[in-house]
Amino acid sequence: MSEAWADSGKRFFLTTPIYYLNGQPHIGHAYTSIAADVLARWKRLAGHKVFFLTGTDEHGQKVAQAAAAAGVSPQEFTDNLAADFRGMAEKIGISFDDFIRTTEGRHKAACQALWQRLADAGQIYLGHYEGWYAVRDEAFYGEDEIEERDGKKVAIASGAPVEWTREPSYFFRLSDWTDRLLAFYEANPDFMAPASTRREVTSFVKAGLQDLSISRTSFTWGVPVPGDPAHVMYVWLDALTNYITAAGYPDTSSPNWDFWPANVHIVGKEITRFHCVYWPAFLMAAGLEPPQRVFANGWLTIEGQKMSKSLGNGLDPLVLAEEFGLDPLRYYLLREVPFGNDGDFSRRAVIGRLNSELANDLGNLANRVLSLIAKNCEGRLPALTEPTEADRALLGPVEALPALVDDAISRQAFGEALERIWTVVRLGNSWIDGQKPWALRKTDADRMAAVLRSLHTALRTLATVLQPFMPETMAAMLDQLGVGQGARALSDLATPLADGTELSAPVPLFRKIEETA
Ligand code: ME8
Ligand code: MG
Repeated sequence: MSEAWADSGKRFFLTTPIYYLNGQPHIGHAYTSIAADVLARWKRLAGHKVFFLTGTDEHGQKVAQAAAAAGVSPQEFTDNLAADFRGMAEKIGISFDDFIRTTEGRHKAACQALWQRLADAGQIYLGHYEGWYAVRDEAFYGEDEIEERDGKKVAIASGAPVEWTREPSYFFRLSDWTDRLLAFYEANPDFMAPASTRREVTSFVKAGLQDLSISRTSFTWGVPVPGDPAHVMYVWLDALTNYITAAGYPDTSSPNWDFWPANVHIVGKEITRFHCVYWPAFLMAAGLEPPQRVFANGWLTIEGQKMSKSLGNGLDPLVLAEEFGLDPLRYYLLREVPFGNDGDFSRRAVIGRLNSELANDLGNLANRVLSLIAKNCEGRLPALTEPTEADRALLGPVEALPALVDDAISRQAFGEALERIWTVVRLGNSWIDGQKPWALRKTDADRMAAVLRSLHTALRTLATVLQPFMPETMAAMLDQLGVGQGARALSDLATPLADGTELSAPVPLFRKIEETA
């Protein structure tokens, strides 16, 4: 069988957005980071050499204004908040390999090198910017992209207030790239997902691109433009560069550079223009390869409103993890809404899924099987036997599962992956009910043992493929199943556990929560 993960050692580079340090992290950031983390953990499980990058976006007016409002210097402000974001990532189990801060020396060097390369290629010229700017989005908007709401001019797409800006500025010749970007999208149908993103971005580019202002002179909190320190780089040019900084740029002989181009940037849907238009244009203009894919997740809303630091309506992931358990929270976020769609966060829905899918469907199945083995097989794994037709009805779908999950996760279809996994969880439950191993004890002890062994095999597979979603709980489940730490990769599923392996007494994996009004 040649599964996708047979190609072990293959490099896989994935990223989250780097988050603005203008407020505390909330569940919206956790959402993107957890999705990326599941993908990173899955690829490691499949034997790939993974480089998983996250970090913080620390320059620009938005952060400078937040620091000023807090009455501290931007450096002190960002040092504190970067530690909060990093701490949050660690507490919610984000298995990053690198955490980049855009205020680091390595990043400044990469930005300046990229700028120089663009300048040398004739892609940058000095001019004057005059137009609308939204600090909240750190974005320039055309006249057709703004409207008046309650007597204030705002960006239509985000509702962020815009102000008229006029200052000397360097420009990037983005208008030169319209056709080449369209050709690139055409040649790379998987570059943008989901389909709505692909459509929106393509039609935006088709309308024609204007040159992009890439420096500012009205504040100083940024990376100085090489040779003209009166300018700092536009924060999005600075921010996007983080992805190649971490890959070692400009040192393209660094071993990390083998990871470029990134396999996937996971971002929120409000920042696709930067990732799908500006970023590949900058890279192509600099003679570098564009990333292979950008996946845009939808928005988590609370009562229909996007949660955001600017609006101050974010839910704290740690409070939620405390209430529901981290793993049930991770599970819920990827299970409730198809990744790419918008969805409302609901406590009731978290509790519903925790109680029914995790505690009842999966938790009880594991508990029933392990209790029966503990009671009727002296706590030792029953011997492997030739599967009967009845066993095949369970083991067939079990064996097919990892490849199906791999396919879904590789498309960032996390909800679909979980649905496929739960099809097998439900099959396990109906199968045990049909086989009635508890009744076989007196009538056919050999068959009882074989049935429990088949169920054990199913549970081992389920726990193995669920590790990326619920790392702690699945580690506990694999412990209970007697699967050693070194035997938990996808490829290990091909090697049966030794007959007679001693299993510890089962402990419930999930704690149900009383539904309150
Ligand atoms: O945009 N629902 O940073 P940011 C879903 N620094 N995802 C959400 C979310 C929500 N309610 N709120 C935040 C920036 N996110 C730039 C990025 S990258 C080179 C620079 C997630 O702090 C989502 O991934 O505004 C979104 O794109 C990201 O956090 C934005 O974080
Ligand atoms: Mg934002």
